[in-house]
Amino acid sequence: MIADIIKAYAQKAEQELFKSLPDKSCQQKTVCDAMAYSVEAGGKRLRPVIMLMTAKMLGLSEDNVMPFAAALEMIHTYSLIHDDLPAMDNDDLRRGKPTNHIVYGEAMAILAGDGLLNLAAETVSDASYSIPSERVLKAVCELFTASGTKGMIGGQVTDIESEGKKISLDELRAIHLKKTGMLIRAAGRVPCALFGADEKITAAITAYCDNLGVAFQICDDLLDVYGDSAELGKNVGSDEANDKSTYVSICGKEEAERLMAEHTRLAKESLACFGEKAAELVSLAEYLTKRKN
Ligand code: IPE
Ligand code: IPE
Ligand code: MG
Ligand code: MG
Ligand code: MG
Repeated sequence: MIADIIKAYAQKAEQELFKSLPDKSCQQKTVCDAMAYSVEAGGKRLRPVIMLMTAKMLGLSEDNVMPFAAALEMIHTYSLIHDDLPAMDNDDLRRGKPTNHIVYGEAMAILAGDGLLNLAAETVSDASYSIPSERVLKAVCELFTASGTKGMIGGQVTDIESEGKKISLDELRAIHLKKTGMLIRAAGRVPCALFGADEKITAAITAYCDNLGVAFQICDDLLDVYGDSAELGKNVGSDEANDKSTYVSICGKEEAERLMAEHTRLAKESLACFGEKAAELVSLAEYLTKRKN
């Protein structure tokens, strides 16, 4: 069953992730504890799961992709810590626990996020690989470009700047493609870089990730209105409280659900060239449309 397959990949990535955290006797204990708090709080580990599934589909050894899987989850977790800050979405519940700044204070939450971003760079650059170093460098570039101002950070900027404004569905899709889609894109493109995949293969995987990213954020928008906070592990109603445009606020529940299904279909279709080898990624896309957290 796909749920079990996802769980197995998530657990593998989690082991690597926990291994990479600063040890508990670290000199700067407060910030190290704050970093560990959000990483260890859980989460679906979706991005590492996509990365490991893509590596398997390509025939790339897991050892070479594992440091990147851990690093991507660190970057994602840092983006959540900062996203929850009072200056951003001002949320107090994440992964079923009080948000980082509620426990450690705003200054330490900012530094824990920064610390995780740096640890991600350290993790990928300190690992040993059995592939040419040019490929590793290309993968590093993919990861940090996707998380920077051309990617996730860029999307977060437009998201914040669009609060309280009327924006079009095209503008909203562009925000979703960046703030959420780009880290998901990195999950697919890093294994492509490590494997040395050609342009056609890389384009197919990129199209899958981009459509999955938009579908995933549409679902996140839906859950923010119709989800259950206890199940979700975060507050509902955050988007309305921040006067954000979402797929639900712009086009309503039914149309948002239709568009989520449409992007999921496009994601699956993008992988047609891989045939049966894409079965896990195809099932993952379907599975995610039914998620409750
Ligand atoms: C939440 O991401 C933020 C978005 C980009 C929608 P996830 O839903 O993957 O959060 P975790 O990692 O499972 O907590
Ligand atoms: C966050 O989008 C995307 C990133 C953290 C980059 P949201 O603000 O909708 O995510 P949640 O709902 O707080 O998890
Ligand atoms: Mg946000
Ligand atoms: Mg948020
Ligand atoms: Mg949300």
